[in-house]
Amino acid sequence: MSINLKPETLARIDEAITHYPVKRSAALPLLHLVQEDLGHVSQESMEWIAAKLEVPAIAIYELVTFYPMFRQKPIGRRHIKVCRTLSCALSGSYRTCKEFEKHFNTYPGEVSPDGEVTIEFVECLASCGSGPVVMIDEELHEKVDQARACQLAVRISAEAAARK
Ligand code: FES
Repeated sequence: MSINLKPETLARIDEAITHYPVKRSAALPLLHLVQEDLGHVSQESMEWIAAKLEVPAIAIYELVTFYPMFRQKPIGRRHIKVCRTLSCALSGSYRTCKEFEKHFNTYPGEVSPDGEVTIEFVECLASCGSGPVVMIDEELHEKVDQARACQLAVRISAEAAARK
């Protein structure tokens, strides 16, 4: 069985395994690497990791279902993460999220109808004094009130249109 990982990811996986005295201890790093490459961890990916680490597939499945950061479904092309931890929640992150939802016609955890965006609530993004904090793909945005969320959403839509 094989999954469609980039050669760099395969190399990082082989390297990660060498950091542990027993292969099965590399399960979490491998799950992160696979998700980083493919956007989610499918059933097939779990089986591939299990075979790679010589553990039963159920051991990998248990990790994926236990830790909320692992996704079993594909996400949109752009990933918007809105912090909902206390400081950000108090500074309006739920309203920020609603603005993104309205613009992309979707809900947290779902892919927008055009496949372009997934919005998710996440826990603290380590910039608590400048909330609401949002990450769009790998880029951190601070003080994202509703007006700023609207600007960012318009920018994302314009970038999507430019690709078509
Ligand atoms: S509470 Fe949102 S970044 Fe820490």
